[in-house]
Amino acid sequence: MRLSRVFLKLASGYRTAPGQQRKRVWASSSHRMIRSGDLFPFVVLVLVLLSFVPLRAHQNLATQATPTFYRDALPLLQEHCQVCHRSGGIAPMAFENYQGTRGYAAAIQAAVQNHSMPPWFAEKGIGKFSNDPSLTDEEIALLSAWAAAKAPAGNPADAPAPKKWADRWTIPAPDLEIKMAEPVNIPADGDVAYTYEILPTHFKEGRWVQASEILPGLPEHVHHAVVYVRPPDSQWLRHAPVGKPFTAEALNSSEDKKDAMWTDSDVLLVYAPGSTPDTWPRGMAKFVPAGTDLVFQMHYTTNGKPGKDLTRIGLIFAKDLPQKRVLTLQLTNDHFVIPPGAPDYRVEARGTLPNDALLLSFFPHMHLRGKRFEYNIIHKDKTVEPLLRVHYHFHWQMSYRLAEPLGLKAGTELQGVAWFDNSKDNPHNPDPGAAVRWGEQTYDEMMVGFFDVAVDSRLDKPRFFQRGGPSAPEK
Ligand code: HEC
Repeated sequence: MRLSRVFLKLASGYRTAPGQQRKRVWASSSHRMIRSGDLFPFVVLVLVLLSFVPLRAHQNLATQATPTFYRDALPLLQEHCQVCHRSGGIAPMAFENYQGTRGYAAAIQAAVQNHSMPPWFAEKGIGKFSNDPSLTDEEIALLSAWAAAKAPAGNPADAPAPKKWADRWTIPAPDLEIKMAEPVNIPADGDVAYTYEILPTHFKEGRWVQASEILPGLPEHVHHAVVYVRPPDSQWLRHAPVGKPFTAEALNSSEDKKDAMWTDSDVLLVYAPGSTPDTWPRGMAKFVPAGTDLVFQMHYTTNGKPGKDLTRIGLIFAKDLPQKRVLTLQLTNDHFVIPPGAPDYRVEARGTLPNDALLLSFFPHMHLRGKRFEYNIIHKDKTVEPLLRVHYHFHWQMSYRLAEPLGLKAGTELQGVAWFDNSKDNPHNPDPGAAVRWGEQTYDEMMVGFFDVAVDSRLDKPRFFQRGGPSAPEK
């Protein structure tokens, strides 16, 4: 492994593939990059390496020619890029076939070498995440060598089987789609207040949701969407209309208006640009009780053109009865004031877990001044155990799923820390002169550290929050 890494690095440095490189070193004295001064150490290095390469690798090397699209590039593009770069995906170009990809070879090389693609913002070395799409150094070298060799197609017979995508969905074809009943009219300009639409599930019995995905009708307008679970006994937004879009302002009582802004209802799923859909580990799922309504909370942005949005959510139900129920919790601070011009303003939120839980994933949410977000455990002796460090990027709001769920005891103290850049050096900053508080619009700020935990399948959110051991759950 180590040896092949060295080889690929060399190869990319010299902009050809290993097999060819070797030939060229021996055959050509006119290669631009290999002048006599360079030649000697390079040849020695190749010889030394070869003498250590085991037989199988040796054979590989002998047959390994310039990387080709079908054999080398396409498998990597399928695994690491097509989730966004496919027809109907969120990226502007599809890397599904040779014709569609060839023209982007140089851009692909640049993007993978400078690590801007695939997008991933967790600091290396802190936590391991199952949805980390990053390429290894070998893979980066391979794509680069392919691009540098003028992106040869190779033999179509070498291509991997095409990856199957269910229409526009990233999850497999959903068992059920719940779509807005009435479209939301988005104006051409100005701010749009959070818009809600309540949609009944008509579930006769409780259902366990293994995977879900939100498909915005107009992705260019949907800044975020949160789908909440409102069980039949919840009083949340009870006076609001069903199956029709509304804003808090349009509601009659002041209590309802306030209600719209704050809820302890469980979140089924959050969508934001760049976010990935949720798929829970085997044996764990979100629970949607019988008679539940889904409450879509939509935040739209305007772009000069009016539009009509019909967003939907796709659900895949668990095949077996799960042992664990997934709940989405949050570390939130809504009391901050970020001073004008502050380049590195820190806001924190802490909470202790009311009961034992398995920590599964994180989803930090901030607005345009978001710079960094951290999740930590604060131990009894005050030591801080980092769980995740994100270099926040407003256009890429992602979830970070732990490769191994982390068991946490009741009483564990969790901390979320957000850092904001309100200086003029932040290119996204709409107004460095403003003192910034919590608010809905992107020129306001938010500090929300969503995280998902798995708990006993018989607990719901209110029971999980009963400290000193949850009461016996009813069934
Ligand atoms: C999570 C979605 C996502 C994944 C995964 C992803 N891309 Fe992208 N990519 C985008 C989007 C969206 C754009 C459009 C530009 C932007 O918004 O930055 C883009 C732009 C690009 C561009 C244009 C130049 C640039 O850097 O902006 C290249 C090249 C590219 N991607 C290559 C790749 C490659 C190669 C992979 C896989 C190794 C990959 N992308 C994985 C979403 C993705």
